[in-house]
Amino acid sequence: MELNTQKAEFIRSAASLADCPRDRLPQIAFAGRSNVGKSSVINRLLQRKNFARVGSAPGKTTHINYFLIDQKVYFVDLPGYGYAKVSKQERARWGKLMEQWFADTSLLTLGLLLVDMRHKPTADDCVMCQWFLDSGKPFVVVANKQDKLKKSQLEPNLALIRETLALPETVPVLPFSAEKGVGREELLGIVLDHIRREKEARA
Ligand code: GTP
Ligand code: MG
Repeated sequence: MELNTQKAEFIRSAASLADCPRDRLPQIAFAGRSNVGKSSVINRLLQRKNFARVGSAPGKTTHINYFLIDQKVYFVDLPGYGYAKVSKQERARWGKLMEQWFADTSLLTLGLLLVDMRHKPTADDCVMCQWFLDSGKPFVVVANKQDKLKKSQLEPNLALIRETLALPETVPVLPFSAEKGVGREELLGIVLDHIRREKEARA
């Protein structure tokens, strides 16, 4: 199983469930707070500088961005949450879209929850984590911005993340740095393994 990460294309920005592709290809979701680095992690996986757009107008769009990689897998950049300056209306729209997206079991096949490795996960992170666990689909927590930590903080912070999210032992927490590339090989391995399993399951 190989994945040509050079062959990546933007498919569409889905504003509603009707715009989400349903062609039985695996869909790997990248979820997390606004500014945690969802787009940066996607760019790092693909070794591209500005493929998924980084840092523009945080929390301003409630859209699900679909990228197709090598005709084999979708990377799904979910809208960020927790941005303070978002209106009540926008927040409600986000909630409704996410609720519908998780309710449609033909979409998500692997969940990636990105958290900021420097901080204790927020209440919103815990809610998102529970949605992924409830989905029954495979799930990995990616602890991003690892480069911002001192070595002595790595283990305690990982433990705090695991404890706060009340993760089952089966859910891995992967230290990652979109900035430096830490964890890229491991995450790519998880992605490849997932594509292989999905293919076998559908054969
Ligand atoms: P929204 O799309 O607004 O929800 O944000 P996002 O989660 O896609 O975050 P984005 O990738 O735009 O990154 C936000 C900011 O964090 C940018 O300034 C990035 O350069 C920075 N950033 C992302 N990942 C890392 C990392 O691993 N280390 C460091 N130091 N900075 C990072
Ligand atoms: Mg983004």
